[in-house]
Amino acid sequence: MAKTAKTIYVCSDCGAQAPKWAGQCSDCGAWNTLQESVAASANNAPSRYGGYAGDDDAAQIRNLADVVAERTERVPTGMAELDRVLGGGLVTGSVVLIGGDPGIGKSTLLVQALALLAERKPALYVSGEESAEQISLRAQRLGLPVERLRLLTETCVERILALVAKERPRVLVLDSIQTFYTEALQSAPGSVAQVRESAARLVRFAKQSGTSLFLVGHVTKEGALAGPRVLEHMVDTVLYFEGESGGPFRLVRAIKNRFGAVNELGVFAMTDKGLREVSNPSAIFLSRHERQVPGSCVLVTREGTRPLLVEVQALVDQSPLANPRRVALGLEQNRLSMLLAVLHRHGGVGMFDQDVFLNVVGGVRVTEPAADLPVLLATLSSFRDRPLPGDLATFGEVGLAGEIRPVPNGQERLREAAKHGFKRVIVPQANAPKKGLDGVDVIAVSRIGEAIDAL
Ligand code: TYD
Ligand code: MG
Repeated sequence: MAKTAKTIYVCSDCGAQAPKWAGQCSDCGAWNTLQESVAASANNAPSRYGGYAGDDDAAQIRNLADVVAERTERVPTGMAELDRVLGGGLVTGSVVLIGGDPGIGKSTLLVQALALLAERKPALYVSGEESAEQISLRAQRLGLPVERLRLLTETCVERILALVAKERPRVLVLDSIQTFYTEALQSAPGSVAQVRESAARLVRFAKQSGTSLFLVGHVTKEGALAGPRVLEHMVDTVLYFEGESGGPFRLVRAIKNRFGAVNELGVFAMTDKGLREVSNPSAIFLSRHERQVPGSCVLVTREGTRPLLVEVQALVDQSPLANPRRVALGLEQNRLSMLLAVLHRHGGVGMFDQDVFLNVVGGVRVTEPAADLPVLLATLSSFRDRPLPGDLATFGEVGLAGEIRPVPNGQERLREAAKHGFKRVIVPQANAPKKGLDGVDVIAVSRIGEAIDAL
């Protein structure tokens, strides 16, 4: 009897299947889109149903009211900043993907967290990248309690699962998903098909056994391809390392979290003793100048559930180019172009012959519109070469009609600014407190012209 084909090739554009690889998809004509994949036969089709539903033929439709939800059990990892991004501790049976550039500190963070977790729960660290000696050396250097931390160096998913079934850890770290392979596929470890299928098997195991799983994934330059992006929909929580690997600070952001707030930010400092938690991050993102310099403005932003003070810097310079440059680091470039148009139309300040560069200090990425007003003020300050007062902080969204719109959690932002000694805060009218705030001059504005006049 002919052996049934186990692997097929699926077009990533149109989903057409082919028994053999080819450079071009015969259905939609796209080039280089055929990728190896496991054929979905009757007993091998879990991924069609979400990956970990199991082979449960008896699934039934029920009333939501009849479903008894067990309380999700949360285990503190022993690192408060990691707990914060996880939404208040590690949920039993959850799968967490940690992504980031190579060398940014993923292994360091997980070894530290796992060593602390191992004191309370059976924990296993599976490494496909480093040797047992390397991991041991690092753990010793970091002065971690390693008596109860178990270690395995292996890259075959089937063998890992067989060993894990015997060992029965409650927390499992797999470092990194790009090095693991499943015997079901022929393609090399790190290829999209391998990464996806290996992860699917591990996720299914985690859900069935109630083991908490940390998956490490490198983001390669080509990101989308061999990177962990293909896994994001399979896992419960996605954490990414942000910030420059050259600097001392490491930001871990929750991109997706089924058990907590998204966009939550954990702040660490890389030291010779590993990653240290930074519990008051506002203090580190403000570069305190001796003298106030033009083009700098302090923004009160919100990362997840916590307000954060960051400095926005702008440089406006006469442009030699026909199309002046608009460069924004840590902020959205299109937003900058829009704000410059608003500033021209409603504020009467044109910068069409100027290069505008923007940067958020410390490698923080700000995606919320509350940065609009600080961006405008910093740009204006640089353009006019006049520094803003050192005790001024601000936040607010700017609309296309030149209006300043309120942003969520205004009171909390104001308190954070007051806590760090800011004496003047420019806020949207609707965010101004009714009774005022002790020791802080709250300047409420509703139009962009008022904000400019307030300076
Ligand atoms: P690592 O966790 O191995 O990175 P990843 O797993 O994300 O690839 O981190 C390695 C980097 O961290 C390396 O450049 C050295 C630095 N580091 C320190 O500065 N201090 C330390 O105590 C440790 C363990 C690493
Ligand atoms: Mg590593």
